[in-house]
Amino acid sequence: SPAPALFEPITLRSRTIRNRIWIPPMCQYSAQARDGVATDWHLAHLGAFARGGAGAVIVEATGVTPEGRISPEDLGLWNDAQEQALARIVEFMHSQGAAAGIQLAHAGRKASTYSPFVEGSGSVPQQEGGWTTLAPSAVAYPGLAEPKELTQEGISAIIQAFADSAERALRAGFDIIEVHAAHGYLLHEFLSPLSNFRQDAYGGSLENRARLVLEVAEAVRSRIGEEIPLLVRVSATDWTEEGLTLEETVQVVGWLKERGVDLIDVSSGANAPIRFPIGPGYQVPLAASIREQAEIPTAAVGLITESVQAEHIVFTGQADVVLIGREALRDPHFPLRTAQHFGHRPDYLPVQYERAYR
Ligand code: FNR
Repeated sequence: SPAPALFEPITLRSRTIRNRIWIPPMCQYSAQARDGVATDWHLAHLGAFARGGAGAVIVEATGVTPEGRISPEDLGLWNDAQEQALARIVEFMHSQGAAAGIQLAHAGRKASTYSPFVEGSGSVPQQEGGWTTLAPSAVAYPGLAEPKELTQEGISAIIQAFADSAERALRAGFDIIEVHAAHGYLLHEFLSPLSNFRQDAYGGSLENRARLVLEVAEAVRSRIGEEIPLLVRVSATDWTEEGLTLEETVQVVGWLKERGVDLIDVSSGANAPIRFPIGPGYQVPLAASIREQAEIPTAAVGLITESVQAEHIVFTGQADVVLIGREALRDPHFPLRTAQHFGHRPDYLPVQYERAYR
């Protein structure tokens, strides 16, 4: 019998990825001494997913500049020590046959916040290792410090920083680059009328609000060449008519595609404290709409927790890939367990664990 749809390899540019069960970026707030360097925690955490059969493992939101980190404990990729620590992890992921991805990020006005396991809430003050945040407009996210409005010079430096980090990622051996344009972080803040009140070429019309993410995509693509797949994670909707809408996102995705973006990772919300309905696969319809209307491969994410549910999403063509987040934290071997569920024997069962899968 044919392999389940989840276990059909997928080719993006020069990379063929062994299956369609991938791990989405998940912050660990565990960088060494607040210097953005990955630790043994990251090796064990990410390594387990690679060993567990994931097609690709995408490293957590990684700051392209120090101010771009969500918390002082986040990973960064602006110096050699950070690059070298990640290279070791990539090497292990490759030894397990998984593709290695990394999410490059700038947290904008939602930067400099407390990690969930550091005492404190809201913005981290300077004397505790925090910093002044940067955003399209000097308007705070509720409960956080007021950011500084970015100048044209500041914007150009951030575009450059994304390209520089992408080049470092390539040198570290990554197969996939993902640009974080979701969840109320900098690129989403520019896209969304809830946070962008600029009167220059970066604010107002959708073309203007999309300018920064398009310039970042273009700069990254031109720096990494034609071989490496480039993904963008979007918040497809702000879940309010006053915010970014799915219709607008479809338009922006079309422009991203023209700039060499290969796959859209479809999330939603988080640029305002708005509640929206959450249930199994709640963002899958957004991934399906973007896939159909913008004619681009998509990844679906959000409460995908069951093997049959995951297979159904890919088999019915709602998305090309599923991302398994929290369920993979509970069981890093979710992909192997799913293969076993369907009676499929992938040739990448770790030999050391063979006896568990007979
Ligand atoms: C996340 N999420 C997330 N998203 C992102 O784009 N960058 C990130 O660094 C993080 N960090 C993060 C940490 C942790 C601990 C969790 C649980 C989540 C969101 C994540 O990628 C995913 O979109 C959601 O968790 C929804 O998928 P699941 O968990 O329901 O499969």
